[in-house]
Amino acid sequence: MLQLIKGHIIAAPSPGALDIVENGYIALRDGVIAGVSAARPAGFSDAPVEDFGDRLILQSFADMHLHAPQYPMLGLGMDAPLLTWLKRYAFPTEARFADAGFAREVFAHLAQALIENGTTRVCIFSSLHTEATLLLMDALERAGVTGYAGKVNMDQNGIDGLQETTEESMRETLRWLDACGRFTRMRPMLTPRFVPACSEALLAFLGRLSRERDLPVQSHLSENREEIELVRRLHPDCAQYWQVYDKYGLFHERTVMAHCVHSDACERAALGEHGVLAAHAPDSNVNLCSGVAPVRTMLDEGVRVALGSDIAGGALLPMNAVATAAIRASKARRIASGGEEDVLSVAEAYYLATSAGARFFGAGAGFAVGDALHAIVVDESGFPPAARPLTMAERLERALYLMRPGDICACYGGGRRVK
Ligand code: GUN
Ligand code: FE
Repeated sequence: MLQLIKGHIIAAPSPGALDIVENGYIALRDGVIAGVSAARPAGFSDAPVEDFGDRLILQSFADMHLHAPQYPMLGLGMDAPLLTWLKRYAFPTEARFADAGFAREVFAHLAQALIENGTTRVCIFSSLHTEATLLLMDALERAGVTGYAGKVNMDQNGIDGLQETTEESMRETLRWLDACGRFTRMRPMLTPRFVPACSEALLAFLGRLSRERDLPVQSHLSENREEIELVRRLHPDCAQYWQVYDKYGLFHERTVMAHCVHSDACERAALGEHGVLAAHAPDSNVNLCSGVAPVRTMLDEGVRVALGSDIAGGALLPMNAVATAAIRASKARRIASGGEEDVLSVAEAYYLATSAGARFFGAGAGFAVGDALHAIVVDESGFPPAARPLTMAERLERALYLMRPGDICACYGGGRRVK
């Protein structure tokens, strides 16, 4: 089916660049982008037009790191550093997902909230429970979210009620993978929680699985100093945290590592050389007093970076709010460095929240021909009256800072309209 959507189109094809087409058209063939143009494209003269008038057509967001079973504790328990926070708040909350009924209710709410906020792609952690993980994938698919989800693996350093034996963890991972064949938009991603939560036998098993079945991997890296110290004690043969993942085949171009707050030049070089994507979660970095990841530096060094909400260490689900939190966090680094470090621009933050993540799923940059449409339409009529006509770049800036779910009047995910 041919279709056109019309409005002011703003895409972020590369860090810092904006592709702007005022009163432009996105041509779609069965939900797949056939072209972006200023004039009505040839061959689409009979196609129906969805005319959004003076509204902005933006790329929808990719949330490259969040924890679905922490959604019930959103906005709670921000008074402790990572390792205490995990045992006191996160683990007991995740333990509740042994209850499939509770999981179904929470995940339906979360999936809808993602779409309402314009997030159509995710790399998402479930809990260690196989049934809950399948329910999560089902809920996301039904709401129109695409991407990767993972059953968490954790066979040590958990709590009573949230830990598997090594054998259980392996068996349940295989059972979960076998059941994933039914999904089309959500695919499985191996999810060792982080090094302290996984035995060497489990890490080795997951590394083999990743290689044999070509499965992507997500985990956490160098978020907190106490955590890094613990990893050093557990793996004295590895000089740096990343080397533990690498030793077991879990550090490659299909890997997402959340945080990388304390990654030094050597660890950042390893991220770059191995093609690992760093998921920056600025709100979580500050909430848990972890520090602030050196995103400006990582971008300058050519490390792949995208953004994550890290719900519920982060308390901001809307990725436009995470994008502006990333700008603020870069300014905090600038202040702390006595003005030495450069900050993120609005265009860079928009890129990090959209194309940077989309590319991990194989999409091109911006609104690329051949990609299924992932887009939001922003109605600015609820924003303050402007004192003068705004440029398109200014309208993008204001939308990122101000937009709320009610301002997103349409959302397209995976080529279909989902809001
Ligand atoms: N490291 C291991 N597990 C977690 C988690 O649930 N949240 C965060 N922020 N870091 C982690
Ligand atoms: Fe996390």
